[in-house]
Amino acid sequence: MKRLPPTLVARVRTASNRVRSRATGADIHPTAWVKAGAWIEKGAVIGAYTFVNRRVEIDNGTTVGEHVAIAPGVRIVTASHELGPARQRAGKFSMTPVTIGDGCWLGAGCTILPGVDVAPGCVVAAGAVVTKSTEPNGVYAGIPAQRIRDLG
Ligand SMILES: CC(C)(COP(=O)(O)OP(=O)(O)OC[C@H]1O[C@@H](n2cnc3c(N)ncnc32)[C@H](O)[C@@H]1OP(=O)(O)O)[C@@H](O)C(=O)NCCC(=O)NCCS
Repeated sequence: MKRLPPTLVARVRTASNRVRSRATGADIHPTAWVKAGAWIEKGAVIGAYTFVNRRVEIDNGTTVGEHVAIAPGVRIVTASHELGPARQRAGKFSMTPVTIGDGCWLGAGCTILPGVDVAPGCVVAAGAVVTKSTEPNGVYAGIPAQRIRDLG
């Protein structure tokens, strides 16, 4: 299959990010690459050279740094509720921002919960649920996610 020249790819990517930014109100850097089927809410920020794969959901109030890779099915959640009474457990709505540091890789299907800062240089393993902020340069896996490896 003939490959498209890189400048054309970059131009198409920039145009498509512009359309997405206008449509959803998210701030998507022109050099980021957002695949079709990703949902990025108004108020989210996606940094330079970051890759957002299909079926990713990113809530309002999320800031994703540069050179981040976000695998299919990742959910970054900033919205929550106070626990309400039995007749409606999802009580008063709350929103707590999330940040994903530069260089991180979020593995397929992981979930980042409200208020979490994933520090730069981290890998979040596939399927993990990150409930607390991480320290830089580590691999985090499991539910709740634990640091399983230090990275240089
Ligand atoms: C985290 C990951 C990168 C592997 O990291 P690693 O440090 O090389 O890990 P290893 O394969 O050496 O495994 C180390 C331990 O972590 C465990 N582990 C690996 N991945 C895990 C996961 N997703 N969840 C829970 N535990 C996991 C392994 O079972 C192993 O446990 P053990 O020491 O008890 O045997 C990889 O498992 C992963 O999740 N990759 C994501 C793939 C993906 O999302 N691809 C989409 C394309 S972008």
